[in-house]
Amino acid sequence: MRATVIGLGYVGLVTAAGVAEWGHDVVGIDGDERRVRALKAGRMPIHEPGLQDLVAAGVAAGKLRFSAPSATAIAAAQVVFVAVGTHDGNGGWQTATIRRALASIVPAMSDDATLAIRSTLPPDFIRQLPWVVNAIRQEAGRRPIPVMSNPEFTREGSAVRDFLEPDRVVIGVGHDPHGRGESMLRKVYRRVEAPVLVMGATDAALTKLGANLFLATKISFANELAQLCDAYGADINDVVAGMSHDSRIGGGFLRPGIGFGGSCLPHQVAMTVRESEEMGTPSPLFAAVETVNHRQRELFVERIVRAVGDLSGSRIALLGLTFKPDTDDLREAPALEIASALIAGGATVVAYDPMPKARSGAAEAVAGLIVVDNAMKAIVGADAIGLVTEWKEFGQLPWGAIASAVARPVIVDGRNALDPEALMAAGFEYIGFGRAGEIQALAPRAVAAAASGAEAPTPDAEPARRGSRRGTPIQAKPSGA
Ligand code: UDX
Repeated sequence: MRATVIGLGYVGLVTAAGVAEWGHDVVGIDGDERRVRALKAGRMPIHEPGLQDLVAAGVAAGKLRFSAPSATAIAAAQVVFVAVGTHDGNGGWQTATIRRALASIVPAMSDDATLAIRSTLPPDFIRQLPWVVNAIRQEAGRRPIPVMSNPEFTREGSAVRDFLEPDRVVIGVGHDPHGRGESMLRKVYRRVEAPVLVMGATDAALTKLGANLFLATKISFANELAQLCDAYGADINDVVAGMSHDSRIGGGFLRPGIGFGGSCLPHQVAMTVRESEEMGTPSPLFAAVETVNHRQRELFVERIVRAVGDLSGSRIALLGLTFKPDTDDLREAPALEIASALIAGGATVVAYDPMPKARSGAAEAVAGLIVVDNAMKAIVGADAIGLVTEWKEFGQLPWGAIASAVARPVIVDGRNALDPEALMAAGFEYIGFGRAGEIQALAPRAVAAAASGAEAPTPDAEPARRGSRRGTPIQAKPSGA
């Protein structure tokens, strides 16, 4: 198959490289000349594990190339995937970019080609898409083409694997009277072992939206449950483990903490709340999901305030800035709101993230935020440490030594990612989310360890644990697992 992908952001670039990996001939097009030049030189515009190698393999095999907008590349394609941005930069949707893109792509497409939309769009716009597209065809004196949608379910940080080994492929049919569009997309995905679900284009849009709303709901549910665990002195890890063995529930996306960020979940929850209100069918459930998510950031700040007594004049170390590990993306990153609140309260906030792009982006976005290029620089002298993103390297820090390098050994773990037993044995006060029961059970052992002057184990040193249960490892698996 010959495929052209329009828009080389997170979604488009992974799609282009993944489709090329399956042996199809792919041209990736972007209007941003600098991006195209960088990709031609082998430089990735985003940090995504495995993407650089996948792109390099596609280019080396002659299956993938990049180009500025080109009518020839569009005319030669059997399938044109569109993956342009749809956020308005202000928490809303915009369709101006995709309308502009369609106006230039659609007239140039061959009569037997298929258009497949991968961008996430409002269901209402997806419903109108066949008319929008075929009106452009008619105006250009061309025959109608199949108009399909093909929503993506890839997570940042594991996008390559999610694309190549998806749980399912969804094909949305907008206009496909002869089934040619469906058969083209089936050919593109012929190597995938997962189920291929064919449905109406609006159903496909709602599938994507529904999946993200459900994931967001699970996270806010876990955050509510964590509140109950803290109130009753229970341990959220045990509770979630006990629940997750019920096959109707499952264990994924039940990790409490500072809540969800990123380009998808917060935006889609907020837009659904706003649009359902406008349509006269308000959604109290999704409104509550959003409220709980924001409250989690406030709870994190409150826990730091409680730990240090008075923010004014205190020094707070923030570990991590990105909305999740293995990405350099700061979109809707809880870190930005948290840092701003701490600074507004009078604290000096020193933050570290392994991604240089995230460090410079955060310094630009949050007035007064100090960013440093290694974790220890942030930590030394801190009155409290706040873990914001569960980067693997934070689990491997020398916590035993750190306890004596800080002004006050307090850690607020916004991702429940660290091992409280090791930290408490090192002399830290550990504050997590829904871990009150675990902390209470560990407290006598931590006191005994401190009294005996035993060398504190580090989180990665496999300390002895209660029973056979192991503490929560830091980022042992992707958050979607
Ligand atoms: C999401 C969807 O998972 C993906 O299918 C869709 O295509 C794009 O949006 P992404 O935004 O990359 O992917 O990240 P995701 O793994 O979903 O995490 C979103 C946020 O939720 C992160 O901030 C993460 O830290 C948080 N999260 C996740 C939790 O707070 N708890 C959890 O249990 C899981």
